[in-house]
Amino acid sequence: MKHLIQKIGILTGGGDCPGLNAAIRAVAKSAILDHQIKVIGIKDGFQGLIENRTRQLDYEDVSGILSLGGTILGTSNKANPFKWPEIRDARITYSDVSEIVINNYRELGLDCLFCIGGDGTLTVAQKFKEKGLNIIAIPKTIDNDLSGTDRTFGFDTAVFNATEAIDKIHTTAESHHRVMVVETMGRYAGWIALHSGLAGGGDIILIPEIPYDYDCLIAKVKERSQKGKKYSIVVVAEGAKPKGGQAIVKKVVETSPDPIRLGGIGLMLAEEIERRTELESRVTVLGHLLRGGTPTAFDRVLATRYGAKAIELATEGKFGLMVCLHGQEIASIPIEEAISQLKLVSPSSSLVRVAKSVGTCFGDE
Ligand code: F6P
Repeated sequence: MKHLIQKIGILTGGGDCPGLNAAIRAVAKSAILDHQIKVIGIKDGFQGLIENRTRQLDYEDVSGILSLGGTILGTSNKANPFKWPEIRDARITYSDVSEIVINNYRELGLDCLFCIGGDGTLTVAQKFKEKGLNIIAIPKTIDNDLSGTDRTFGFDTAVFNATEAIDKIHTTAESHHRVMVVETMGRYAGWIALHSGLAGGGDIILIPEIPYDYDCLIAKVKERSQKGKKYSIVVVAEGAKPKGGQAIVKKVVETSPDPIRLGGIGLMLAEEIERRTELESRVTVLGHLLRGGTPTAFDRVLATRYGAKAIELATEGKFGLMVCLHGQEIASIPIEEAISQLKLVSPSSSLVRVAKSVGTCFGDE
């Protein structure tokens, strides 16, 4: 039986990533074309629902945005309505403004809110589901660390961008006989470093899930050098840490629900490798380059499939769910399952074993 849905809201929250516009387009086009549903775009994530900044999305607004990076709606990774930061007299105070969001949802006449986000946004979305709003979640993040789905969109593009960068680094590394350290994003999960390191032929891959031993990776660089390979490529996730040590925190964004910003591991490694091997070393931090630009074909298709499935769920009256990819199939799971824990790389996974079998060093053995 079809559920009567006349008006929906859609927002993008957290860090942006390629494919957001493809997902917005898919939700809006399926809603408008197949079901004559009105679509309200909410600006800058939950911030737009707190401040009531919205605009109607018509067909023309979402036409021609499939290949566009970023998000036409804007986003925010500071907008947690349950812990809303306000700066007064140079001091940050927090309050719960979730009732404002609920009032605005009702005043806008929304029948369902589509939340496109990662762990942080979907944790907020789940709380609104528990407060009685009709929520459907669509998973995105370049980190690919959301549970319950094989893929978040944005990840494939980030891996593509990182691999392209590693390929370029390779030629200059070889020419100058240098050790080149490439630092990728990936706060708690090493998926980007693992996949791009494999695709780009990294000699050493360091990820948060496998703490490294300095002696081990230095030995690998020296061994290559002695065998005539005077250059090495080290691909390191920003969240990688030495055995018994911690990831390097670059800054703390107090107003953010996930306040830790990492960075600096690449430089530290390059300096240490140069000091201990006497091989010239350089670092390249890929940072937000991984998140920008046009999405890959895979991410466009995935985001489109997610968007269409999300509308299907809404019209069937199935709320509180996140669309997901299981193998080749698009399915759905409760949002709470997706946010229950981060999806990390298992050190004994087949991908890590494959990388080791082709001689990649993870700094652990
Ligand atoms: O979660 C996505 C992500 O790109 C992480 O990989 C990275 O640590 C973080 O966001 C960076 O956040 P910001 O854009 O606030 O610097």
